Amino acid sequence: MRVGFTYNIKKETEHSSAEHISEGQDKKVLNGNNIPDSYVDDNLVNNYSHRLSDVYAEWDDEETISAVEAAIKKAGHEVIRIEADENAFEKLRSTRPDIVFNMAEGFGGASRESHIPAILEMLNIPYTASDPITIGNCHDKSRCKEILTYYGVPNPGFFITDSHVNGHPKVKYPAFVKPLHEGSSKGIYNSSVVYNNEELNREITRIKDNYSQHSIIEDFLDGQEFTVALIGNGENVRVLPIVGINLDCLPADFPKIYSYEVKWYFDTRENKLDIFTCPAKISDKLTKRIEEICKQAYHALRIRDWARMDVRCDANDDPYIIEINPLPGILPNPDDNSCFPKAAREVGIDYDGLIQTVLNGAIERYGLTNSK
Ligand SMILES: Nc1ncnc2c1ncn2[C@@H]1O[C@H](COP(=O)(O)OP(=O)(O)OP(=O)(O)O)[C@@H](O)[C@H]1O
Ligand SMILES: [Mg+2]
Repeated sequence: MRVGFTYNIKKETEHSSAEHISEGQDKKVLNGNNIPDSYVDDNLVNNYSHRLSDVYAEWDDEETISAVEAAIKKAGHEVIRIEADENAFEKLRSTRPDIVFNMAEGFGGASRESHIPAILEMLNIPYTASDPITIGNCHDKSRCKEILTYYGVPNPGFFITDSHVNGHPKVKYPAFVKPLHEGSSKGIYNSSVVYNNEELNREITRIKDNYSQHSIIEDFLDGQEFTVALIGNGENVRVLPIVGINLDCLPADFPKIYSYEVKWYFDTRENKLDIFTCPAKISDKLTKRIEEICKQAYHALRIRDWARMDVRCDANDDPYIIEINPLPGILPNPDDNSCFPKAAREVGIDYDGLIQTVLNGAIERYGLTNSK
């Protein structure tokens, strides 16, 4: 088949690498947690948002894009690369692939991830993953939670605002403050856990100033964290082995959250944090409950082909959906600790097999003939 491949490629920014940030610091000084000591300082909360540029954090690098392209080619297909920029519509219209493997995160606006699926829908070209409505709903964390709540799928209590609050009736401290429509932990730093009204308003201002958007303020879930990869459609949705996120390996004075700095700067290829356990070491009861709520969420949001969901427990070990990624991150190198490929490997599906399973799922869903 002629398979189009839509993606956004990461651009280098002034502060886009950990090396740049640690300039002038002794990069080799690591504490027992593989975290450079120089990062663990009193000014962390105040300095991080200025030190870490996250402009293109959601986009993919050439290594990932080449790996996906190679996987599609190995299945015997022709690949037409289409960068998801302003020329994408014309390229899709003129090349008219038989199907598109879409992993474009998009740019500009809250519905940026929906742009390519919407174009494909308009051009009547089949494509992998969810439709623009589902992707848009998942990308707006409050819309997503409203749907989950309607279907009785547990998720933390919340409200949204873009202005200061004083004694809001829904706030319970500690609370968690994050941008309403970002991914890759953009805008989520140690300071996102707030303990009083003043800290809450500081975060609301930071998010409005840096990301020009509302904050979503959630009840802080105090328990274990997991991430869960799902693949398939309808009755055949498969939950891959649950990945446990061991946040106890963070320094004692760090809140136990999977923040931007932990995700992208502490856990690097060179200094891997021992942060993931797959399958997670949890009881059968908790495993079953997590699988159950993730499948419910998958159907409630009408997700197609694949998605990764983040789950966290409260102090009673009851799991809640934190957020849903219908275009999951898939770094190919196992050293990069990317959770979806890791969970797939656990059940014997390698990187090529993962990409091909998603593509074949979409081919089947559209009733197309899988010709080479
Ligand atoms: N209500 C909450 N209570 C406790 N911790 C939370 C809560 N919401 C988010 N977190 C922490 O913040 C991290 C990032 O939040 P979230 O997953 O919503 O952001 P994201 O940017 O969409 O992530 P992704 O990289 O998966 O796209 C979570 O992995 C978790 O550690
Ligand atoms: Mg997340």
